[in-house]
Amino acid sequence: MALEQELSALAVDIAAEAGELAHRRRAEGVSISASKSALADIVTEADREVENLIRDRLSAARPGDGFLGEESEADRGTTGITWVVDPIDGTVNYAYGIPSYAVSIAAVSGEPDPRAWQALAGAVYAPALGEMFRAERGGGAWLGDERLRVNSDLNPAGSLLATGFGYDPATHAPQLALLGRVMPLARDIRRIGVASLDLAYVAAGRLDGYFERGLNPWDHAAGVLMVQEAGGIAVGVDGGAPSRDMTIVGGEQLVDRLAAIVFGEQGIPT
Ligand code: IPD
Ligand code: CA
Repeated sequence: MALEQELSALAVDIAAEAGELAHRRRAEGVSISASKSALADIVTEADREVENLIRDRLSAARPGDGFLGEESEADRGTTGITWVVDPIDGTVNYAYGIPSYAVSIAAVSGEPDPRAWQALAGAVYAPALGEMFRAERGGGAWLGDERLRVNSDLNPAGSLLATGFGYDPATHAPQLALLGRVMPLARDIRRIGVASLDLAYVAAGRLDGYFERGLNPWDHAAGVLMVQEAGGIAVGVDGGAPSRDMTIVGGEQLVDRLAAIVFGEQGIPT
């Protein structure tokens, strides 16, 4: 089996087990255990328990690989491959009982930095929705047996776009101003609250495009690969790779238009 296939199969297996654990813990009731970067940026006991499970399974299967996760310390490893993990993406939905949340697991090679790495494989699993998205470099993006394709044509009715907002209240006004500038391209806007699922949905053609500033590497590592493997484009600042500064994805024509607005005269929100 090619390395990418092997990594993708492992990501899927572990995401399935981790997702079931998150789902079970949700049914038992969730308590918020701390706030992180801002009061609204919460972590639950389940986030930590699920990340520990993923980390244990990965180190048993591939002991030399590095690890970069939301809830625990990074480890560079020795193989040049790093696992980039969000145990529960959409923690606020999870805490409120909204079923849109996901486990996101990606394997990348090279520097563990989204501007430098090459994503090899990824899985995004939404246990409460029963959907496992997966991708491997050169092997496509999939939901079960269905091969995913981004919507490449511009819809004359406007594009169905998703975005997100940072937890820091100081970022809200500039991000809303940017949304106002993007609105003429949109037929409507979704704020699902799960960056990895926004990206998987763009890959699946359920959304035409998505943009967000402030994403962490684990929010987009798996999903950006899905978009690319589904024939879409993913850009960050200066036409570079997506990063915390900006992530824009969709079909090429839409991404060009979004990028012209986002990086236009008024610049990206700070
Ligand atoms: C958040 C979600 C949200 C996005 C935020 C992320 P978390 O991740 O993906 O949709 O807007 O930027 O931080 O905190 O739920 O893992
Ligand atoms: Ca998270």
